[in-house]
Formats: sequence, structure tokens, C-alpha cells
Amino acid sequence: MRNILLLILLTAFLFGCSSREEPPEAQVQEPAERKWWKEGVLYQIYPQSFKDTDGDGFGDFRGVIEKLDYIESLGIKMVWMNPFFESPLIDNGYDVADYRAIHPRYGTMADFDEMLAGFKDRDIRFVLDVVVNHSSDQHPWFQSASSSRDSEYFNYYHWWLAENGDPPYRYSLFDPEGGWDYVEAVDAYYLHTFAEAQPDLNWENPELRQEVYDIMKFWAEKGVDGFRMDAFQFASKDTTYPEFPEGHEKDFIKWYGMRPQLHDYLKEMYAEVLEPFDVFAVAEGAGSTLQDAHDLVDADRKELQTAYHFEYVDMSRTPAGYELADFKEVFTRWDSAFAENGWLAVFLSNHDNSRLVNRFGNADPEFRRVSTQMLNTFLLTMRGTPYTYYGDELGMTNIDMPEIEEYVDIDAIGKYQTALKAGRDMEDFMEELNYSSRENGRTPMQWDTTENAGFTTGTPWKRVNDNYRQINVAVEDADPNSVLNHFRQMTRLRNENLVLVYGEYDLILDDHEQIYAYTRSLDEDKMLILLNFSDEDADASLPSSIVPGEILYNNYDSNPAEGSSVLLRPYQAVVFQMNE
Ligand code: GLC
Repeated sequence: MRNILLLILLTAFLFGCSSREEPPEAQVQEPAERKWWKEGVLYQIYPQSFKDTDGDGFGDFRGVIEKLDYIESLGIKMVWMNPFFESPLIDNGYDVADYRAIHPRYGTMADFDEMLAGFKDRDIRFVLDVVVNHSSDQHPWFQSASSSRDSEYFNYYHWWLAENGDPPYRYSLFDPEGGWDYVEAVDAYYLHTFAEAQPDLNWENPELRQEVYDIMKFWAEKGVDGFRMDAFQFASKDTTYPEFPEGHEKDFIKWYGMRPQLHDYLKEMYAEVLEPFDVFAVAEGAGSTLQDAHDLVDADRKELQTAYHFEYVDMSRTPAGYELADFKEVFTRWDSAFAENGWLAVFLSNHDNSRLVNRFGNADPEFRRVSTQMLNTFLLTMRGTPYTYYGDELGMTNIDMPEIEEYVDIDAIGKYQTALKAGRDMEDFMEELNYSSRENGRTPMQWDTTENAGFTTGTPWKRVNDNYRQINVAVEDADPNSVLNHFRQMTRLRNENLVLVYGEYDLILDDHEQIYAYTRSLDEDKMLILLNFSDEDADASLPSSIVPGEILYNNYDSNPAEGSSVLLRPYQAVVFQMNE
């Protein structure tokens, strides 16, 4: 029973099911303070899949340098790059063995500096992925800690001493065997929230915390502008490691992370690093309640500037899909909770998910283009900082991987083993994995129609999607109606209209089953956004207070509004200036 539950949870997600609750009472009534990290659109680069220049089949910094003009052409203002540090790459770099060294696969520190300078020349800020809930088991700290209890690094990790008996059950997100592993040399078990090769760092230890701040300062001194704090909610633990009640994994974060002392650590980090270096930090995850999220990001707390939550990505993890009503409800609830205080990021996909168009749109060739445009329009017209994942500006799709042998991701393999152990119907399981695996979102960037989509002259580390001849930068660049050119139109619109950044969001046509419609307003400036989330025409009557004016963006030629009635084509997305 426990295994089945765990499997559902694993599928349900890495980190976050926010329990439904009413938004907390509006707090400080102040207009949002202007900040670059609120106004710019962020582009996420998965470096090993972006562009290879040395023919080894893995993307590298020189590849990013080669594509700087392309990146700038997207109208984005920030780049977050997944980890590129020295690592045994058990979890594609989320297992760091040296936080100050570049993995040779990506290039050298000089290449990094050149890349960073290239971003700066283009006024693009750089956000570093900081993976400090855990290190690699190959990190010298862990190598030393696991060799003797007398090591000065022993307390950099969490241990359960064997003389205290077997450790209490602990769930692990990647390891079907659980979260403790035994090390003979120290006769103790170490804790790992993720894979066996990713021991959790002990944040209760002030020396460890200082090491982390020093690492952050090292990168801030180099000129990075922000930090994405990986899995950070788990940094604080109940160090009595109690056994939690059966079923507790449903609210994994509540039990395994977000202990009160997390806020002390964050305040310390803010004072040591974020404030003096004037950099920002975004947390992966926003706790398990809206109040948790406020406690992390509200400006007066001086902890983090922003975070992103998982509630809506969680709703689309199986081929069964999601209901538009739930999607609207989640976005509206989170928006209203942060309308007055605090700031969040908005995203629909990243390296931990399958492709946006497969999960929220329609990847059939007939609708792929319009439905991706519609989703990108959504992302770029919501309040919150939009995070776009590489390839989503083209409408890249999932790759078909029906056989487990093709999977290389530790998460997919862990899930497979858990499913086997639980006696699941493996055909069903593979169908689910094929749909939801994060490997779908990690295939090489599709640059052009040449072999391997122009990603590499060697053998790509991961198969290029077969559809690269139709979906690629070169082809889309030349087509004014492409997903790419529409993405650029939308970032321009957002960059030129503060109403799309700071404006109030109001849901209209609340119960419409196909249309997601809302207005954004900032003083006199008002926009209306109409999105058809379905593959059929959709009509509606607008409330009399809503008068659509000039069309600012449209992914069809037809104007959908006539007086107060609207008729939207399948996946049509329209942004109107509103008339008084
Ligand atoms: C975060 C990363 C994910 C990684 C995990 C462990 O969730 O986004 O890719 O596997 O942390 O570091």
C-alpha cells in the first residue's frame, strides 16, 4: 500500500502539492515596487542540450556564446542556466563535487567569463543554479565526512548513528530504498532526500552555512545577478528524524522541509550575500501553503525575492490531462494571494517536466503551432515573472520513448523500479512515463534542418526529436506566423507595457469551459486577454463593462470580437487594448 502511495506521489511530483486554502488576508497595501527581476522575461537554458561546439555531443558555453544574438532576439532579459559545475553527473549536474569549478564538458572558467560578459553586453542578467540542499557524494566534504566520525566535515551532513538502531523510515524522492544509506567506515547512515549519490547538507551547522555563502559570494563577485535555490525548502529538517504518519508523503514539503529555522538561514543569507551584492534569489518551491510562500518572499521579511510553486504543473502529470476550471482556479487563487505583497514567478515547463505543448496544449501537427502560441501568450500576460524553457519559444514537443532501456534519467529509473516493486501494470506505467518523463524536455535544441538539428556535429547525448525538420529556429525565423516570431511579438508587448507586469489581474467568464479570459489593469491602462484552451470554436458574451479595443496580439487573422460577443477559433489567443 505504501509503495503504491509513494508511486502516486513520485508521479504527482518532486516537491510540491500546495493544499487548497483561502488566500491570507491582504497585508501591506502598497503598489508593487519596480524591480528588474519582476519586469524581465526569463529564459532557461539547459546547457547540455543547447548547442555543442566541440563535437562531443554535449552542449557547451561556447555554444551559448555562439547563440547570444539569438537569445537576445527573443526579447528576454534574464537567463537561468542549469548546473554546469564539476560533478559525476548522476543527476545531470544536480550533484555538485566542486561548487567553484566548471565541468570540462561545458568549457573553462574563461569561457564562462566570456559568456557572462556576452550576456552583460546585451543587458541580459544571469541567474546561477545553486544546489546546496545536497552535494555530490564525490564532494571532498562528503569524502572526508564518510571516512571518519572525527572528520571536520562529519557535521556537514546528516547522520543516524548505528548504535541508535535502525533509522526511522524516510522517504526519498529518487531512491525506492528510502532516504538513509549506511557507510561502514563511520558506522552510520547518511540522509539523502534525492538519490543515494546526493547526500543532504546539514544546514544546522553554521560552518556549512558560511561555506555556502562564500560560494555564493564567489559567483556574485564574478558578476552573476541572481541565484536559483535548488530544492531549498528541504534545507531545514527536524533533526530528530521522526517517523511520520502513514500517508504523510502527500504533503512531502510540510514534513520533510520548511522547518521554522529555514527563515533564520534565509535572513542570514540575505544579510551576507543578497543585500550586499544586490543580487536576487528565487526558490524552487514555495512551501506547502500560501502563507509559507509569503513567509519566503514578502519584501519586509528580507529572505528571498521570489519563488515558484508547483501546483499547476502537478495537475498535468498524467496523460489524463487537466481541467481548465482547475487551471484557472489555481492561477487565480495564487494571483490574488500575491496581489498586494510578495512576488512569484510563473512557468509552465522546465527541465523537470515534459514539454509545455504536450501537457497544456495540443501537440498534434494541426494544433501545435496555435496552441503553443496560446500558452506562451498566457505565460507572458500573467502577473509574476514569466519563465520560458528553451525550445518552448519554438513549440518543441515530447519525444516518443516507449522503452525503459532508452531512459538515462535517475528520476525515471527510480520511478520504474518503484513501479515494479509495487507490482504496477507496467504497460500503463510506461505510457505514463513516456508522457510525463522530464527527459522529454531535455532533448537537443532544434536549430535548423541539418543533421542533428544543427545541435552537434558528433553524436548527441540524447536523441534529437524526429520533428526537427519542421520545428527549428531557421524555419521559424523565416515564417512570420511561427511560434518563434509570435513569442518575440509577445515579449515585445510585455516589455513595452508595464500593465502586463504590474497590472491587476481579474478573471472574467469564470465558468467558461473553453475560454480563459482576464483583464489586466494599471491605472487607466487596461488590457483584455482571451484564450481558447480547446480544439474547437468557442463563443461567449463579454460582460458589458468589458469593451475590447485595438488588437495588440492575435495568433489568427480573424478578429474574434463583435460588440460584446466573441468567437474564438481553436487555441486562438488575443490581447486587446480595452476602451473605457
Ligand atoms: C531540483 C532540480 C532537479 C533535481 C533535483 C535534485 O528539483 O530541479 O532537476 O533533480 O532538484 O537536485
